[in-house]
Amino acid sequence: LPVLDIAVLGAGTVGSQVIRLLGEQAGDLAARSGARLSIGAVLVRDPSAPRAADIDPSALTTDAATAIDGRDLVVELIGGIEPARTYVLRALRAGASVITGNKALLAAHGPELYAAAAESGADLYYEAAVAGAVPVVYGLRESLAGDRITRVLGIVNGTTNFILDAMATSGASYGDALADAQARGFAEADPSADVDGLDAAAKCAILASLAFHTRVGMDDVAVEGIAGVTAEDVAEAAFFRRVIKLLAIAERRTDESGHEGVAVRVHPALVPLDHPLASVSGAFNAIVVEGEAAGRLMFYGQGAGGAPTASAVLSDLVAAASHRVHGGHAPRESVYAHLPILDPGST
Ligand code: NDP
Ligand code: HSE
Repeated sequence: LPVLDIAVLGAGTVGSQVIRLLGEQAGDLAARSGARLSIGAVLVRDPSAPRAADIDPSALTTDAATAIDGRDLVVELIGGIEPARTYVLRALRAGASVITGNKALLAAHGPELYAAAAESGADLYYEAAVAGAVPVVYGLRESLAGDRITRVLGIVNGTTNFILDAMATSGASYGDALADAQARGFAEADPSADVDGLDAAAKCAILASLAFHTRVGMDDVAVEGIAGVTAEDVAEAAFFRRVIKLLAIAERRTDESGHEGVAVRVHPALVPLDHPLASVSGAFNAIVVEGEAAGRLMFYGQGAGGAPTASAVLSDLVAAASHRVHGGHAPRESVYAHLPILDPGST
């Protein structure tokens, strides 16, 4: 089998699980992709830090050029905008296939990344960027490519769902539940991205762009997080047989003047106990997609954490490797609708 040379940028919660699984499942992954996947470099800040995976010390580096240049596949699991953006662009411009879980980067600079990929013929994969193990990016990009999507609605942030669930079911305090979510590897490096709704907004922008074939960026999403949700709010919701969930909602709408557009928002909502989203517990995510022909579908599963997210990264690695060996590409950016962004309050 041919050997493909991989750089893994970042070996934290997700990166270390990707490295572990690449080792443990090497034979199966080779059989499925048609190539042996060999980790040539692992970029970190501190090579002496303990890792949750066995990493060949000679692969560890703090030098981005050494890590990226000349690789076939580059997996970006650093997070944040910079230096991740610079590294991903460097890899794409060199023609490497890039796999990333970085929703903040995609929501802020997706078009720039797609353009760099198109220019060099490289591919960009990002199943791990939305809802951890749940294959909703594939679902929208590929499985539902023939349908007209009217609405995407769901729970796309594991940390805030874990916090709200712990407050509702075990009476945990907001602070203790957040600390627990961080200890379990669900939260972003800066957890304000979770609790302020920005992580959900980035995911909502990505899903809306895929669903409606239009460009939706971070700034297009009306956002309210859960920092203002109190124990009293949670108790009052329970009294009325409801739970508080942080929902991401992207809808195709027609405004008062008859113009079609897209309204995108993230905010805490009261969900009736008999609604399917009410029973989504812990760091699980669930996304309801409504298509004109398909009707209503629900994507559900572990939305955060090292191993579940690594599962999504590995699926992209298999696809990327298979495309390298057998031909084919990841879907290109599909933007043709150019729908205006509507004020969610007016719809
Ligand atoms: P972590 O903070 O656990 O790991 C980040 C890794 O990146 C660390 O190994 C760190 O090195 C390295 N790193 C950070 N900055 C730099 C830099 N400037 N140069 C080189 N290396 C750097 O993050 P996660 O694994 O949790 O998340 C990674 C990505 O995956 C993010 O984009 C996140 O949003 C996304 N994601 C995370 C999920 C989760 O459940 N955790 C789920 C879905 C997506 P060092 O270890 O030496 O400090
Ligand atoms: N911090 C994110 C969450 C990780 O809690 O959902 C998964 O994207």
